[in-house]
Amino acid sequence: MPLPLVAILCPREFKFGDPAAAVECSVLDGTAMVHTLPLDINGQIPAEALEADALIFWHGPFVNGEVIARLKRCRAIIRNGVGYDTVDIKAAAARGIPVCNVPDYGTEEVADHALALALTLCRQIFPLAAEAKRLGWQINVADKMRRLRGRVFGIVGLGRIGTATALRAKAFGFRIVFHDPYLAPGAHKALGIERVDSLDELLKLSDVVSIHCPLTAETRGMIGTQEIALMKLSTFLVNTARGDIVQKAPLFAALREGRLAGAGLDVVEHEPLRTAEEAATPNLIVTCHAAFCSPEGMIEMRTTSAKIARAAVRDEPVWNRVN
Ligand code: NAI
Repeated sequence: MPLPLVAILCPREFKFGDPAAAVECSVLDGTAMVHTLPLDINGQIPAEALEADALIFWHGPFVNGEVIARLKRCRAIIRNGVGYDTVDIKAAAARGIPVCNVPDYGTEEVADHALALALTLCRQIFPLAAEAKRLGWQINVADKMRRLRGRVFGIVGLGRIGTATALRAKAFGFRIVFHDPYLAPGAHKALGIERVDSLDELLKLSDVVSIHCPLTAETRGMIGTQEIALMKLSTFLVNTARGDIVQKAPLFAALREGRLAGAGLDVVEHEPLRTAEEAATPNLIVTCHAAFCSPEGMIEMRTTSAKIARAAVRDEPVWNRVN
């Protein structure tokens, strides 16, 4: 009997891909053949993928209902990453094919990144570095530099990343409050942090607001003009979740007009930034939707995907199923 086939769909332009599939081969050695199938991100699914016993895919092309209908013996479709909007999960479910993702490979990296953005703002690292590199030595931003101990760090969404962020911020002496309408009562008590009754209360109270909820119909545009008006002039806003949760126009206007002390964004509505004017917004730090990145995280993600594929081809239960 030939070994089952695990196919990895990898867009040619995608720099995280590994044609040799070294990580996947080490997990699947003796269990399955591993073939990396290079493709165009908007192109056709290669014929060989239709023969696979398990499919691992990075980004597009969209694994739509028509593709799913043509899969001959696929026992799992696995997304190397968190989001699974590039696969028709209902069509897969209708054929009994589990769709799985890897939701946790970057938890620590994103929490570290959120803290890095918060600390960079609270300690005004960029203006001070710019002054020093200009060969000046004036502390022009002293009024914006914060003692962290006792300041209120407000977390919106106390899930995996929100909790990891809370623990990190707590170690710096921040007082941690959070808003998460879906968390069971008392779930936060072991962390020694405080629940507030509403988003409005969190925004009024916090010196740093850090967003960690998913993008949903409810959270899209959740931080806009009214919410920014509730925040103190001295507050820093950090968003490492999804760009569309924070409305860019009112945020950038507030930064230009000094109605907010600063913002640290790994994600931006309609990313990337579009104009030189946007890029010149004062007290704004933007990183390139890179909070998840680390070589260790990539290896962890690929290892998890390969382990799920191994379970699927052995007809063992899979995990991280989303359909
Ligand atoms: P999670 O599912 O563990 O936690 C999300 C939390 O948000 C849950 O506790 C949920 O109850 C809460 N929540 C849902 N709706 C809410 C609302 N309206 N208000 C307040 N809280 C709400 O997710 P995890 O792993 O912590 O990830 C959070 C988000 O981080 C992801 O949805 C993703 O968008 C983003 N992310 C960003 C990355 C980056 O590179 N910048 C990488 C990975 C994730």
